[in-house]
Amino acid sequence: MKAQDENREVLPTGERYHHGIALYESVYRESLENPNGFWSKAASILDWDRKWDKILDDTNAPFYRWFLNGKLNVCYNAVDRHAKSGNRNKAAYIWVGEGGEEKIITFEGLYRRVNNLSNALINLGIEKGDKILIYLPMILEAPVAMLAAARIGAVFSFVFAGFGASAISERINDAKAKIVITADGGYRNGKILDLKRTIDEALVSTSSVQNVIVVRRSGHQVEMEDGRDIWYHDLVRDGSKYVAPVELESNDPLFILYTSGTTGKPKGVVHGNGGYAVWVANTMKWAFNPNDTDRWWCAADIGWITGHSYIVFAPLILGLTSIMYEGSITYPSPDRLWDIAEKYGVNILYTSPTAIRTLMRYGEKYVKMHDLSTIRVLGTVGEPINPPAWRWYHENIGSSKAPIIDTYWQTETGGFVISPSLGLGLPPLKPGSATFPMPGIDPVILDEEGNEARIGEKGLIAYRRPWPGMLLTLHNDPERFVKTYFDRFKGKYYCGDYAVKDSDGYYWLLGRADEVLKVAGHRLGTIEIEDALLSSREVAEAAVFGKPDEVKGEVIVAFIVVKNEFRGISDIASGLRKQIKSELGPIYVPEEIHIAETLPKTRSGKIMRRVIKAVFLDEVPGDVSTLESSASVDEIRAAIESFRKQAQ
Ligand code: WTA
Repeated sequence: MKAQDENREVLPTGERYHHGIALYESVYRESLENPNGFWSKAASILDWDRKWDKILDDTNAPFYRWFLNGKLNVCYNAVDRHAKSGNRNKAAYIWVGEGGEEKIITFEGLYRRVNNLSNALINLGIEKGDKILIYLPMILEAPVAMLAAARIGAVFSFVFAGFGASAISERINDAKAKIVITADGGYRNGKILDLKRTIDEALVSTSSVQNVIVVRRSGHQVEMEDGRDIWYHDLVRDGSKYVAPVELESNDPLFILYTSGTTGKPKGVVHGNGGYAVWVANTMKWAFNPNDTDRWWCAADIGWITGHSYIVFAPLILGLTSIMYEGSITYPSPDRLWDIAEKYGVNILYTSPTAIRTLMRYGEKYVKMHDLSTIRVLGTVGEPINPPAWRWYHENIGSSKAPIIDTYWQTETGGFVISPSLGLGLPPLKPGSATFPMPGIDPVILDEEGNEARIGEKGLIAYRRPWPGMLLTLHNDPERFVKTYFDRFKGKYYCGDYAVKDSDGYYWLLGRADEVLKVAGHRLGTIEIEDALLSSREVAEAAVFGKPDEVKGEVIVAFIVVKNEFRGISDIASGLRKQIKSELGPIYVPEEIHIAETLPKTRSGKIMRRVIKAVFLDEVPGDVSTLESSASVDEIRAAIESFRKQAQ
């Protein structure tokens, strides 16, 4: 708790915005005391085709259903109503290519493109409920594809362009996707990512895909399979065809987004239409309080939940102008973000602690090259932000006046759950704390046994009631949904994070309590990487864990035991790296791969991952009883001793 205690002082930083939190407190209280009235008002942020019968249906808990029998179309709310109003000529996106190109697309232009693609999808036979897999870089066709799917009631599953072939085929097979929308390639650090080739590899082990629609972006040579692959520009004619938005029930699925959990198989998090859209639009208003004329820049990738919710759905529903940047934050030079922020007069910048720490390393020189005076508000997401990075961001990028909205949330929560609320009266900020719950969110910090933790005591954060943006279920696996989120603490949603509440009521999120890593903000499962290692010819045993890293938060370390017949062969590690890169994707490649003679195991044969980690990091505590729940203290001691000897 030391680091936080040192930062207990109330900073003057929120001051300009700090009008007291009385409004926040009364809104928050109302959200808990009068949820029906509260959510009814909050839902009027959308246009509904039919009003709901019930705000919250909990008869099938924990499968909570919000705005039951309410009918709407999210694409209509995000696009049509702006294209048909005074926002028609307003920019929806200002897109900046990695090479510096600029494209500005108005709400009316977005409307036309979405209709054109919707029409093409219908012509290919896509209907309500069909699944579309999107594997696109940060180009405008990405939001267009998501919105077109939403318009016709198809369910999209977006796969981040950094994932490899087997990650894609697994997702295609789980969702039985009929269509893939991809590009020939995308740009990253001046190089071309060969996306189409990865899709071709992935499709070898799938059977549901009828067509692959390919956007031409990089222009390099790609294979096009006759009868299956179609160029986007050949298929999607630019016309004025109108496709009526399909009326959907609030709890029909909008998208599936796979995320890592504690098994080797990613979880297909399903979000619905009504509850999700109400949640993302309202949380964006509460947390960031954007003005109509603001330029909002969420510098995340569209393939992660942050991009889904806060590059696409929330800002469009609110009719805001977003900056969308295609490439790497250090390309062609480390001032790229600041250059774009100055050139386009960005007012609100939302990015990750890893990005901040990466750019902080290059020093203030790159920041000073630019006038960042238009920036009024800053935000962070994805991992805890350490106070020095918070201060650097605040002082250098926010000119010591922009408040930092540290938003804590998860793929499963749909949108922010704990965050300062600039729109409801900003609390005095404490660097490293996400401050207070959003309206409707009722968190509690529990000890391992499920008792409420004391103030200042680290515990597990859970939620005592549902909220509109929470996941509907896990695709194809309702049992896993219940088991993963509601079994640990009966009747409460729990998803793996440590937290502490201080004596002023501020929440501090302290990282994952499970076998999930956060590498540069990317959520990765240790078991997925172990499975990939074990699927190679050479590896007999594997243990993967995270090592703290100053910039990326954590990096991946693997310990492996090589099968007898492969012992002594050099370069096993580089072969494994290559294999992981093509199967899972570059973000999964371990920074260190160590070869050991044996790995410590419990009597029942379970590898003691945490023991290996503790020995490796030189962190073995006197009391080893917490290190491995399924082993005796003697067993752990013996395992530590023998592993230590080996490591020397
Ligand atoms: C972590 C990303 C501390 C947390 C939106 C959570 C954070 C996981 C914060 C979800 C934050 C996210 N402070 N930790 N502001 N934001 N996390 O699903 O461990 O990719 O459980 O969603 O990121 O990661 P996911």
